[in-house]
Amino acid sequence: MTAVDEPKKLRALLLEGISPVARDLLAAEGLEVELLPKALQGDELAAKLEGVHLLGIRSKTHVTREVLARAADLVVLGCFCIGTNQVDLEAAKAGGVPVFNAPFSNTRSVAELILSEVIALSRRLGDFSRDVHLGRWKKSAAGSHEVRGKTLGIVGYGHIGSQVGVLAEAVGMRVLFFDITPKLPMGNNRPVASLPELFGESDFVTLHVPATPQTKEMIGERELAAMRPGACLLNASRGNVVVIPALARALAEMRLAGAAIDVYPEEPGGNSDGFESELRGLSNVILTPHVGGSTEEAQEAIGREVGSSLARFLASGATTHAVNFPQVELPKTPAAHRILNVHQNVPGVLRDINRIVSDANANIEAQVLATDPQVGYLVMDLARHLSAEVHEKVAALPTSIRTRILD
Ligand code: NAI
Repeated sequence: MTAVDEPKKLRALLLEGISPVARDLLAAEGLEVELLPKALQGDELAAKLEGVHLLGIRSKTHVTREVLARAADLVVLGCFCIGTNQVDLEAAKAGGVPVFNAPFSNTRSVAELILSEVIALSRRLGDFSRDVHLGRWKKSAAGSHEVRGKTLGIVGYGHIGSQVGVLAEAVGMRVLFFDITPKLPMGNNRPVASLPELFGESDFVTLHVPATPQTKEMIGERELAAMRPGACLLNASRGNVVVIPALARALAEMRLAGAAIDVYPEEPGGNSDGFESELRGLSNVILTPHVGGSTEEAQEAIGREVGSSLARFLASGATTHAVNFPQVELPKTPAAHRILNVHQNVPGVLRDINRIVSDANANIEAQVLATDPQVGYLVMDLARHLSAEVHEKVAALPTSIRTRILD
């Protein structure tokens, strides 16, 4: 059981050079914000979290069960990126800490990169540019094509895949897609029933699937052989979706005309490490260092998206889009105090809380409870003069994990 008294000023720690947009947004909400350029780990992180209510990280800071166990003041965690593997989400939930991320903010950046690469591959821009840099003048139209009227096949029609489809249609491409779940086609994009059908019809195949057991090495020798001769493959999803030696062979034997690859089965740990791949040096192959979502606009959008989710949680308790928590969003009742209670999901908790409210002779102005198998999350608005007493008693229940009161 943990009761958290709401301090006068909440403190936020933002690590890994998170966009200052997030700092400004949280500071405008009255938080004291510290912004650090680097990641912290283990003991150093745990020590730094003393007195910190909000932690913002990107992908390099590991928020483990041990770190969370020592972060008694932490009420919310923001991952200023898409992935949340770096956080022990179950431990965070068990400690009453919702975790937010930014699922959409770099979608457009990836989609724009893909469209630019489709055109670049079609015009062999990489090879032309390298030759001219080396002082070689090889003017020729052979093997260069317009993309207008060509067919783009999209594998995985989610946030990114569907954006790619919209952009590709705008430059006159015919767009097909394959997804394992039914999806609303954008514009004139058309779903196909199977991957072989997509491969058989596409001049370009672009991959936008998540990392799952089914997508691991989903594009190997057999799938590459099913692609049209002279087609191009693009992958900016996950590195292990494509079997790289098989792709290198298909390119070297000129069964495929080109490829654009942004993600790899093994990626260097940092910018000073070297990079090895069978794809290096191959003709009409664009290799980029996992920069699909890396634009200044995306970083700002991530700062805004996660910063806003965190600010909304602190101001109203809203957990909509939290990745590990029951979802609650309740408009605030004017002139009431709000009590937020995270508790173990066992029978009788609501009865106990409602008895406390009733014993205090308080009227519940609004109340919402959402649960998952492990925890329940209750948001309740009460008249101001009774809320402090109710807060204290609810926080003291043995089933309570974390209880806050908002003015
Ligand atoms: P999303 O979750 O919105 O869409 C993924 C889609 O793939 C869903 O519609 C899903 O139903 C579909 N799918 C899942 N398994 C499939 C299968 N076996 N066959 C066909 N379709 C399947 O994800 P979002 O945001 O579009 O991201 C897509 C990928 O892009 C992710 O792997 C993500 O990690 C990656 N990504 C890469 C970036 C980069 O810098 N290169 C930046 C952002 C995302």
